[in-house]
Amino acid sequence: MKKLRKAVLPVAGLGTRFLPATKATAKEMLPVVDKPLIQYAVEEARAAGIEQFCMVTGRGKTALVEHFDVAFELEATLRDRAKSEALAALHGAQSEPGSIVTVRQQVPLGLGHAIWCARAFIGDDPFAILLPDDLVLADKPCLAQLAEAYYETGGNVVAVTEVPHEQTNRYGILKVGSDDGRLVEVTGLVEKPDPKDAPSNLSIIGRYILLPKVIDYLSRMERGAGNEVQLTDAMARLIGEQPFHGLRYEGRRFDCGDKVGFLEAQIAFALKRPDLADAVHAFLKNYV
Ligand code: UTP
Repeated sequence: MKKLRKAVLPVAGLGTRFLPATKATAKEMLPVVDKPLIQYAVEEARAAGIEQFCMVTGRGKTALVEHFDVAFELEATLRDRAKSEALAALHGAQSEPGSIVTVRQQVPLGLGHAIWCARAFIGDDPFAILLPDDLVLADKPCLAQLAEAYYETGGNVVAVTEVPHEQTNRYGILKVGSDDGRLVEVTGLVEKPDPKDAPSNLSIIGRYILLPKVIDYLSRMERGAGNEVQLTDAMARLIGEQPFHGLRYEGRRFDCGDKVGFLEAQIAFALKRPDLADAVHAFLKNYV
């Protein structure tokens, strides 16, 4: 079994649900408290042993790459002014030289197409996918939990959570075989099924570890739900050929691509911060 070292971060979506904020700014640069979504994803990946990153970007997304660059003038100014706290805050926003590459998805044809755009980076290796707009608050980072499941099963693993039955048409949904309460065997996958056709209410969240074979199926460019090239459809082809499991991770997911989910994340993450928790708690209590 190969070691997991690579992660793909698809960030080429249009972020239409967040207009006008995303007119000139990438959705993945929106901050939760004081850190952009993309940095949460990169830090979570690093904590799971990821060393190489590929961002699949599109037009207007250069800030995402610049965020991980050395900001020479800013750092020199902060040093001159003895702003040590501000300097320390920049720490997680730096990357090992050469550890982040970008590829371009010229037209957003869907998540599956975005992953296919990273095929040269993926090569013959297992790889993680993190969708930065899914944020997971957890004691042990979600991707590290998933990596453990990958080393346990040697196959494809996706993080899963239960969603309200009437919302299955928003997510990729699992058909479930054996289930030990933590790991579930995936026997089928359907993208955004109507609640009446949904095989379960277990949904995939934006954390995956996949074997490179999935690229062969993505190469067929078959269109699925919403006329997009769906990652879920390509993954479904792997079932029966390779081990495929869902992991009920420990933690709470916030869908930051959605306005309510984004606001919930601000509150939940602020309440976890020792420097902010008391003030935010007091405000909420009085305001509500
Ligand atoms: P979403 O489904 O949230 O789409 O994509 P979106 O365009 O970002 O946002 P809305 O729905 O218009 O508001 C999930 C993830 O897949 C990436 C997005 O950047 C996001 O991280 N994605 C999606 C791509 O990189 N390319 C695509 O063609 C589609």
